Amino acid sequence: MRERPIVAIDGPSGSGKTTVSKRLAQRARLTRLDTGAMYRACALAAQWAGIPWSDGERLGRMCAGLAIGFRGEGEEIRVILSGKDVSDAIRTPGISMGASEVSAHPPVREAMVALQQKMGEGGGVVLEGRDTGTVVFPDADAKFFLDAHAAVRALRRYREWGAGEGKTYEEVLKEVLRRDIQDSTREHSPLRIAEGAVVIDSTTLTVDEVVEEMLRGMPETVGGTGGGGKP
Ligand code: DC
Repeated sequence: MRERPIVAIDGPSGSGKTTVSKRLAQRARLTRLDTGAMYRACALAAQWAGIPWSDGERLGRMCAGLAIGFRGEGEEIRVILSGKDVSDAIRTPGISMGASEVSAHPPVREAMVALQQKMGEGGGVVLEGRDTGTVVFPDADAKFFLDAHAAVRALRRYREWGAGEGKTYEEVLKEVLRRDIQDSTREHSPLRIAEGAVVIDSTTLTVDEVVEEMLRGMPETVGGTGGGGKP
């Protein structure tokens, strides 16, 4: 077992990964690695460079040399792309769809996974994404699959940015469902439950309840309160 753990949290959009991983990072003293933010940054960088989101080969070459980093600690982690703080710019509905599209290309995934493995290899991290427990760190010390009913996930997204974008709840729900299909039916690294992952349905749970359940699923040696070992 590693001295410092690697925790992987995967799940669909709006399942609460970000909020939960922030809280878990604080509780278990881990550094948070938001892999979705990296695909979002890739979509934004493509826009800046005038590369279509459909052009996997060019995107892959671009991603291999992309300067993506995280700055800050705890809740206040900022996403830095080529020296610029893009934390807000990558959270628009347009970039959400772009991230989903660029993330389907194998050359993009190869570049991103390599970067994520490099960032997390020292341990002491919680990764959140779609493939962190299946592809990035299949040997993670604890793996979770966070899910929630689509209607609840859409409501969370709507509250987050839907109203600000002038979108109705129904439109947000449609986008959430479309992204679900895109992320889970793609040929390469589709969203799926990692072998040995603990599945948590957050539909009716509070953030703290989810985090408590996760800590119970992690052995004390890696910052948890439970006896569960490596899956
Ligand atoms: O978690 P998020 O909504 O910020 O992710 C944005 C997009 O990136 C999402 O539509 C799917 C993709 N993604 C991925 O393919 N693999 C990951 N590990 C994380 C995100």
